Amino acid sequence: MNKKFHTQEFDDGTALKLDIFKNYIREWISVFLTDSPKLGHVTSVNIFDFFAGPGGDTASNPGSPLIIQKEIKHYCDEHGSIKSNKPITMYFNDKDAEKIEILKSRIASNQCGLGCCQPKFMSALFADAFEALFPVIEQPGSANLVIMDQFGISDVTPEVVQRLATCARTDILFFFPSSFLKRFQEHPSFASKYDLRGKNLDYKTVHRAICDYFREKLGVRRYHLAPFSIQKNTSIHGVIFGSSNLLGLEKFLTVCWKLDPETGEANFNMEGDPFWGEKHTLFEGLESFKKIDQFKADLLQFIQDKKPDNLGMYAFCLENGFPPSKANQSLREMLESGQIATVLPDGQKARKGAFYLNHSESMSKIRFHKCEGAS
Ligand SMILES: C[S@@+](CC[C@H](N)C(=O)[O-])C[C@H]1O[C@@H](n2cnc3c(N)ncnc32)[C@H](O)[C@@H]1O
Repeated sequence: MNKKFHTQEFDDGTALKLDIFKNYIREWISVFLTDSPKLGHVTSVNIFDFFAGPGGDTASNPGSPLIIQKEIKHYCDEHGSIKSNKPITMYFNDKDAEKIEILKSRIASNQCGLGCCQPKFMSALFADAFEALFPVIEQPGSANLVIMDQFGISDVTPEVVQRLATCARTDILFFFPSSFLKRFQEHPSFASKYDLRGKNLDYKTVHRAICDYFREKLGVRRYHLAPFSIQKNTSIHGVIFGSSNLLGLEKFLTVCWKLDPETGEANFNMEGDPFWGEKHTLFEGLESFKKIDQFKADLLQFIQDKKPDNLGMYAFCLENGFPPSKANQSLREMLESGQIATVLPDGQKARKGAFYLNHSESMSKIRFHKCEGAS
């Protein structure tokens, strides 16, 4: 599939995907290379790029492996050097041995010489590379970012995601061509891997539905998945992110909302909103978006059912695709319109507009209530 991928310039969809990777890699590195007691006992930091390619396109745009290397360098430039004493390893695999040879020389020519981060190269089919490296990923002291930029849909299956979700401190980013699976779901080789019978696979929201399917397959395991959909010509594919950590999810969602300020989820108007992508409209302040309206309705129901505190609210908002900056906006509007109220533990009214939705917040500070008569 797509043999020409690295022998032409990356298209806009690929550039966007790589931008998402780059921005998340930057956030992830800054968490795991900065020593913090909150991370627990981390003894090694690993980034795995299982479908690495040769390092870039014909116009010298960097691919995922060179982006990883650059982002580690960026961290060093900002912080003087890597102060942490944890070894950092970049694992690069591609089934095509020729691509790995090209990549080796590209990585070597950009290597800084201090030796704080080390590349390791493999040329194997994903399934074999994954089995060979899984013991490294599941080591209790390791922190891992696993990137799986596959062609097609045969490699990163729900079973692979399930296994990665069992590993501590392991975040994942993978590519999935969702509309391709919708089209060929009944083909025997795919039907044996994905049982999509009865799923609502509407064209525009298909990538979100595929992410929901992966989530459903994880069962009760507390591992958070979030999608970003990319439309390219008539196909819809995208990135799926996973992490057991709410801070990881917050960082990924923040990257997504920067790219799509209206819904945080796509490079196209997924739900047919009249104002999507309009920078300024005559209706400033009156624009509504289906995703935000639905979120507010879900919030109201959640508040009525659970009377959550700020910690429960932080998790609920992230699990519904809203980082604190965006969730605060909706909560503020609901507070101002008298739908909800916030109270202190002693029952007194809380300070207006202070919601304490923050990963570093470990205390229960306020509770949310639905106001009488609010709908
Ligand atoms: C979409 S490209 C990856 C692009 C890369 N992330 C970049 O930014 O340049 C997919 C790569 O996976 C490799 N590949 C395809 N099937 C594979 C498999 N089953 N196992 C390992 N590598 C595979 C291809 O040779 C190709 O280089």
